[in-house]
Amino acid sequence: MTDFAKTKAMFHLPAGVIYLDGNSLGPLPLAARGRVAAMMSDEWGEMLIRAWNKAGWMDQPARVGDRIGRLIGAPEGTVVMGDTLSIKVYQALASALEMRPDRRVILSDTGNFPSDLYMAEGLIKSLDKGHELRAVAPQDVEAAIDDNTAVLLLTEVDYRTGRKHDMARLTETAQAAGALTIWDLAHSAGALPIDLSAAKADFAVGCTYKYLNGGPGAPAFIYLRPDHAGHLRPALSGWLGHAAPFAFDRDYRAGTGIERMRVGTPPVIALAALETALDVFESVDLHDIRSKSIELSDLFIAEVERRCPDLALVSPNDSALRGSHVSFAYAEGYAVMQALIDRGVIGDFRAPDILRFGIAPLYLDADDVIRAASVLEDIVVQRAWDRPRYRQRQTVT
Ligand SMILES: Cc1ncc(COP(=O)(O)O)c(C=O)c1O
Repeated sequence: MTDFAKTKAMFHLPAGVIYLDGNSLGPLPLAARGRVAAMMSDEWGEMLIRAWNKAGWMDQPARVGDRIGRLIGAPEGTVVMGDTLSIKVYQALASALEMRPDRRVILSDTGNFPSDLYMAEGLIKSLDKGHELRAVAPQDVEAAIDDNTAVLLLTEVDYRTGRKHDMARLTETAQAAGALTIWDLAHSAGALPIDLSAAKADFAVGCTYKYLNGGPGAPAFIYLRPDHAGHLRPALSGWLGHAAPFAFDRDYRAGTGIERMRVGTPPVIALAALETALDVFESVDLHDIRSKSIELSDLFIAEVERRCPDLALVSPNDSALRGSHVSFAYAEGYAVMQALIDRGVIGDFRAPDILRFGIAPLYLDADDVIRAASVLEDIVVQRAWDRPRYRQRQTVT
């Protein structure tokens, strides 16, 4: 059994704060401070450029990728780190479309994260081959898969509502129709058990600054199913995805397997922080995280519904259909969230009216969620949100 009191003690949580935003930016793992400082002084400082070999910097994207792989059901050598998630979506999609040259439809859903859809639209324009992005309602995805579908591009857990797709089932339906699948695991990795191998997913991508607690701007990951990896052409053919980067050949030759999805120089400092953040998961069973997350989410929903009947739950009530965040709609949601943050309860707001709360059992317990619901009740009942300063929109919401 996972010891959640022990994992909570592994994070820096500012005094007086209840942190319900780990679905957006995970908190600082205490050990990351020391690791990054040591890396800066011992490796960058002392070894200088020799650290690429001596400190294993060049292997870090694959090494960290394997550790993420263990959390998402991906075998060794199928996950690599680098760039941002938007770039990884583009990379996966460009290769997938090339693998289905006779098909023109990218199928997604209207709840998908806008960046995934923007990247698809940008790629379609650059290719100029008549591809079409079809975004249907999440519940209509399965019925919309047909023999024009080249790629099914979905985020497993909806960033706004927390609605969770059935990855195995949709992958099977898509593949039976001859399509490929790309799963964005931004709101799943580190929050729930994922089994990419069992689901036979073709591609998966995700970020590491949310439930994996890698820090702001931590690099993304990409997974390729092993049987695709040997022949797929990387659209972003950077030198570190080359079979022999230091041969400096004039001609591009794709690297072995997943290595070909590397592009350029890895973010070594960020990867050091992430590598340390992943240590937390060494003593954790993702099935325990999932059951605790469901327990805490159900408790939070019940508390909020009882205390604040004017807030409307927009997440599925059925925990099996939900990821690890819970969202409520409220017309004055933005001001309410600012008032909450002022009182140390940190969640976030997603336009037009969604209050979003991430439930991460690694550092949250029942007492935290009950206290958060009680502060929320106070703010809503007393209209404490009704101040001009709480309505002033900041850049990041
Ligand atoms: C589901 C999803 N996809 C893609 C992105 C974009 O990620 P990045 O900013 O790392 O490119 C995000 C960011 O939050 C996201 O939540």
